[in-house]
Amino acid sequence: MTNKEIKIAYKEYDSLDQLEQYDRELAEAAIQATEGSYAPYSKFNVGAAVMFTDGEIVSGANQENAAYPSGLCAERTALFYASASRPNKKMAALAIAACQNGELIQSPVTPCGACRQVMAQYQTKSGIPMQILLIGKKKIL
Ligand code: THU
Repeated sequence: MTNKEIKIAYKEYDSLDQLEQYDRELAEAAIQATEGSYAPYSKFNVGAAVMFTDGEIVSGANQENAAYPSGLCAERTALFYASASRPNKKMAALAIAACQNGELIQSPVTPCGACRQVMAQYQTKSGIPMQILLIGKKKIL
């Protein structure tokens, strides 16, 4: 038997101003993408933005449906659109933001298991690490 350990290193910021320019641009795109959210049931407006290695950004937002499982999270909306519209590009980063009553939420939202599975596979497809930015008003991870 051998003992194994998994360590995860990540950065925490207090505000968008502290981010590098590329990260800030992507974070702002995710915040803007919340405007495309269709969430009449949860009223939780999530936006996600993908940056490719060439700096181009595409985004998506959560889409809800009366037939509950037919809706889709912002992350998968953005990732599926990114892959479907630019199949040969590499995804370098994904930012996620959420608003309630028109205000960015205080603590960052974290992706669900299904979205994490999809993120993992697009990271493999791209062949490079996918940086993840979780945007909250008071905390950015
Ligand atoms: N949602 C996302 O789009 N991404 C997340 O990371 C968390 C949850 C959506 C799904 C649903 O439309 C609403 O937020 C409430 O869960």
